[in-house]
Amino acid sequence: MKSVRVRVPATTANLGPGFDCLGIALRIYNTVEVSGGRGEEPGEMARAAAELFFKAARRKKFDFHWSVEGGVPRSRGLGSSVTVRLGILHGLNVLSGSPLGREDLFHLCAELEGHPDNAAPAAFGGFCIAPPMGPVQRHKVGKALKFVVLIPGMQLETERARRVLPKRVSLGDAAFAVGNAAAIAGAFAGKNYEALRGCFGDTLHQPFREKLMPFLGDVIRAGEEAGALGGWLSGSGSSIACAALGNAPRIANAMVAASGLDEACAVVVGADNTGTVVLK
Ligand code: HSE
Repeated sequence: MKSVRVRVPATTANLGPGFDCLGIALRIYNTVEVSGGRGEEPGEMARAAAELFFKAARRKKFDFHWSVEGGVPRSRGLGSSVTVRLGILHGLNVLSGSPLGREDLFHLCAELEGHPDNAAPAAFGGFCIAPPMGPVQRHKVGKALKFVVLIPGMQLETERARRVLPKRVSLGDAAFAVGNAAAIAGAFAGKNYEALRGCFGDTLHQPFREKLMPFLGDVIRAGEEAGALGGWLSGSGSSIACAALGNAPRIANAMVAASGLDEACAVVVGADNTGTVVLK
């Protein structure tokens, strides 16, 4: 049986107040190769993706093996699990004669993840609003906007970072986050990136995750003081991202210095506007 290679971008989700619904695809990629036939055991994550795919596509199961390579670091809040899940879903889809479309595969990936905010931009590219019920809204991101991402050496599992969240938040905190998330969505939809300044403040998850990442506030503040439009915990961490229209090297240096971490690096990337691609 043949092999399929699928390129999937990294993603930064939440953007602060857009908990579980906002995300952006970044120009950092993993390539997943899926091959028919027996090979190394697929592992739990791939097996779950395959189960869901064969059920949704109503196709007979077949043995497969897979591998991943690329630049998306694991458990750093940059959507590495989505690159694997979407890569396997697309790969199995092609090997099955493409019974499902990109939209279907996105939905399966979001179901596997438990939230759609990384899956949507990884599938479609750009800035995505992925509401709990309605369709994904996607907006291309202009080249001028850069993302400075501090990637700590430490890994942080999403499961652990979700366990520290409260079951309830106050009406005031919810309203604060809704206002900021709406402003972020409007700024991206209108490509009015200056309007992002001051809109990344969050009351839904970052304050609670700070106990796992005590340097979060200092890093965001340092990025903003060095000229960033604003910053946020990337997904559930451990990476921290800032958006900027200039001064990227200065912002990167300031973020690394403020983290106080021995092991950390900062990268400057643009947004990916393409999403997942099945390579020829
Ligand atoms: N929205 C998710 C969270 C992203 O914050 O837990 C996980 O990558």
